[in-house]
Order: sequence, then C-alpha cells, then structure tokens
Amino acid sequence: MNILSSGFKISASILAADFKNLEYHIYEAKTFGCDEFHFDVMDGKFVPEISMGPIILKSLKNLINIPLEVHLMVDNPIDQVDSFIDLGVDIITFHIEACKNPSKLIQKIKSKGIKTGIAIKPNTPIDKIEEFIEEVDRVLVMCVEPGFSGQKFNEKALKSIASLHNLLLKRGKRDSVDISVDGGINSHTIKKCKEAGAQIFVSGSSIFWEGDVRSNIMLLKNSLGG
Ligand code: DX5
Ligand code: ZN
Repeated sequence: MNILSSGFKISASILAADFKNLEYHIYEAKTFGCDEFHFDVMDGKFVPEISMGPIILKSLKNLINIPLEVHLMVDNPIDQVDSFIDLGVDIITFHIEACKNPSKLIQKIKSKGIKTGIAIKPNTPIDKIEEFIEEVDRVLVMCVEPGFSGQKFNEKALKSIASLHNLLLKRGKRDSVDISVDGGINSHTIKKCKEAGAQIFVSGSSIFWEGDVRSNIMLLKNSLGG
C-alpha cells in the first residue's frame, strides 16, 4: 500500500542511537511507534565520516522486523549494493550525486524485489533527478549536508520538497512515489516538511539524543497532527 493512503511515517535513524544500548534503543523505537528504521552507510569519501556497513546490519536485522531503509552515502553505490540486497532490506536509497548510471542501479535493486529510493543533497536541483523519479519508489530530500546526525535543518529543502510534490502531481505519480526527508527533523521542522509535501520523516537526534524515546516519538507524531 502506498504511503498516501496509509498515513505519514516516522523512520528512526539508527546512526543517532546509543551504540552501547543499541538493542534497547531499537526495541524502544519500534515499540513506541516508529514505522521504519533508517540505516546510514557512510564511506569517508562521499561524506567525511565512516559509519557502519553490512556486517553490523546483519547482526541487527533480526531485532528490527519492521521496514528497513538503507541510506547509502557512498561513492559508486552500485559497488556496495550487493551485500544489502543479500540481507533482504526493504528499500535501498542512493545519492544521485554519487552515482554514474542511476537507471542501471535502480534496475539492479528492483530486479531483486527491493524498493528503490533516490536521494538529493540540499543544494542539488530537482532537475538532476527528474528523469528518474518515475523509476523509483521514494525520493529522499536531505535537509542537511549528509554526514552527521544533529545538524540544523536547512530551509532550502522545503523548496525542493514542494517542487518535487508538484512535479509528481503533474506527472500523475503522486500516489506511487513517496517523498521522504532526512536531517534536522524535529517537532517544528516536521510540520513544515509535511506542509511542503513530504510523507516519510527520518529522525535521529530528536528521537535518541535527549529525554525518552517514547515521548520524543509521540511529540513528532503529535506535530504531524495525529
Ligand atoms: C545524516 C543522516 C541522517 C541522520 C539524521 O547524514 O543521513 O539519517 O542520522 O539525524 P538527525 O535527525 O539528527 O539530523
Ligand atoms: Zn540518512
């Protein structure tokens, strides 16, 4: 079922969880209402940091058991994708800025029965992904420069979300392609992104860094208006 008919979704970014208590944080996020998990893969080239890869995901996979998106922040994602395909994740999202042949990668992922997402950085114009939007299940609009949790939301992303929303409407694809946002999502920015046209809200620090996970998720959900 497409997201537009099933409501808005909160996706918890594992990168911002407490790695000493990862099992517990994953348990809390799924118990207290997160709809998806988001697993950030960084290679130290496309973005400055190195994060986690398939070996770590393999050990977490059984704990997750709700939809799982892998967000590849790596150069040449086609070289890295096989191990995530083998793990049977639900959606693999790659960056347009890092990919030489997006259609080839999309086909490869799709042919394995896995959903595909295409991501753009806050300063990347929408026209860079226009020709691919009908081939993917999701467009992920970054609202910060990719690379770290806990950064400040970049308002420029709102324009991209709105343009994308209008473009999908114009092409009659608004029901089949979801718009997701990642970076700087909190109880204030989530509303703005929803109004601009987003349906899936990835959040890291707002869920895991302060207070308790249950209240943090509730606050995000309440900010969406139920
Ligand atoms: C950043 C990652 C995000 C990050 C989000 O590049 O892609 O998924 O964990 O964290 P917050 O919500 O703290 O910006
Ligand atoms: Zn991410």
